[in-house]
Amino acid sequence: MVARVIPVDPFDLVIFGATGDLARRKILPALCRRFAEGQMPETARIIGAARSAMSTETFRQSVREALDEFLGASGPDAARRAAFLERIHYIAVDATGDSGWADLAALQRPGIVQAFYFSVSPSLFGPLAERLTRFGLVTPQSRVVVEKPFGENLETARALNRTLARHFAETQIYRIDHYLGKETVQNLMAVRFANILFEPLWNARFVDHVQITVAETVGVGGRGAYYDKSGAMRDMVQNHLMQLLCLIAMEPPHRFDPDAVRDEKLKVINALDPVRPSQVVRGQYAAGPDSASYQAEVEDLQSTTESYVALKVGISNWRWKGTPFYLRTGKRLRARASEIAVTFRDPPHSIFGEDAPWKANTLVIRLQPDEGMTLKVMIKEPGPGGMRLKDVALDMSFADALGGETHIPDAYERLIMDVIRGNQTLFMRGDEVEAAWAWTDPIIAGWQRTADRPMPYDPGSSGPDSALKLIHQDGRSWREIR
Ligand SMILES: NC(=O)c1ccc[n+]([C@@H]2O[C@H](COP(=O)([O-])OP(=O)(O)OC[C@H]3O[C@@H](n4cnc5c(N)ncnc54)[C@H](OP(=O)(O)O)[C@@H]3O)[C@@H](O)[C@H]2O)c1
Repeated sequence: MVARVIPVDPFDLVIFGATGDLARRKILPALCRRFAEGQMPETARIIGAARSAMSTETFRQSVREALDEFLGASGPDAARRAAFLERIHYIAVDATGDSGWADLAALQRPGIVQAFYFSVSPSLFGPLAERLTRFGLVTPQSRVVVEKPFGENLETARALNRTLARHFAETQIYRIDHYLGKETVQNLMAVRFANILFEPLWNARFVDHVQITVAETVGVGGRGAYYDKSGAMRDMVQNHLMQLLCLIAMEPPHRFDPDAVRDEKLKVINALDPVRPSQVVRGQYAAGPDSASYQAEVEDLQSTTESYVALKVGISNWRWKGTPFYLRTGKRLRARASEIAVTFRDPPHSIFGEDAPWKANTLVIRLQPDEGMTLKVMIKEPGPGGMRLKDVALDMSFADALGGETHIPDAYERLIMDVIRGNQTLFMRGDEVEAAWAWTDPIIAGWQRTADRPMPYDPGSSGPDSALKLIHQDGRSWREIR
């Protein structure tokens, strides 16, 4: 199956922080792929900006190396990569000083879509926005893309929103949560709202519970300094897991339109019950035979930051009251796996007798690896010998279903093209981010108030034992992480 590519309008994209890790690993490779697919017009320009002084030629060379490293041999061929590099320019600009800004302003092309990607520390968002305005770079065609973390609590998120609002309209601000750009996450909306099959069952009457898991095998790595100030709750739950929960729980928007979708997500966040201490478990990975402990990696042997968190979340609205959502995420776990599992209730009566082996129908949406969907259904075991029941999986891998050759675009590919198109559906609105922090803050404040210490867990495990109890005490169990 050949994906349909609709070219976007000519644009200039200025990447602040173009020499940084995110730009090299994600943004530039994503742009190269879109260019190679014919989605970027030949007149589009990508302007790298950072403080380091270098020529456009030197920057192109470093981008070439980044493409080799992160696209590998499977990506666009050498001719396409070379053509892509021709679209790239570089200007040395200091976000906190005035050098380079006049040069950037001189490159402006009136009337063309202009996107500014803030791939820098959030402390630079304000200085960048202020200089963009002062040097006359902000026009009605301007858009600004901001990376996570969007604040570290409600107060700082509000301050960031206020700062951006001084320079840009909300319709010009694209707050990235790259989970929303994942193919499977969007498929979640297609599954729910393009099929009649699931929606009638999609409520507390028929859904027993929902599990959302985002498990990583890696530790904090080189991000220790940042991560230790953040922890799993701020780094993963407040944004990524919250967004997944919203897409599962929200009412059907009246249109697939940015504000219609985001209004419905906001209603879900506002309906979340406060989380009691007994409904949350924090963990921190211990040392393993081949790996250091969390505390050793962040170089603070007293650190009480969580590298794992599991929560039981209730939603107080008509659709979901009584159906718990169990969320968990952590580092150094058994496998790298992200999935959403919707477990349906048992049928009200078994015509096959009380002893029939019963497995609840479960719809699993796999985000990674092998993006796809599985529906567990009960069937009769083949052969004679009476009515023996067995659960089997209707399994669909998107890569296979869409023809093995199809490249499933990386989230950044889709999201950056959406910025150029001016489509904010897959980006978080300011009030949504604030509502998510308003729910998260009291949980973190509770830990701080009680000097809570995370439970240690073994690397390569499924997390701390107390997380098992969290769900076992409700007569349920976590799905295996694999
Ligand atoms: N890396 C990831 O996987 C990842 C994932 C999600 C979100 N993020 C977020 O994305 C942002 C960038 O992360 P990163 O990992 O790419 O950071 P990074 O590797 O530290 O890169 C920072 C970039 O900012 C530039 N910079 C620093 N100070 C500057 C200034 N005063 N004026 C202009 N440019 C300046 C640096 O270049 P010069 O030193 O040459 O100026 C560099 O290009 C952060 O907000 C981070 O939280 C990153």
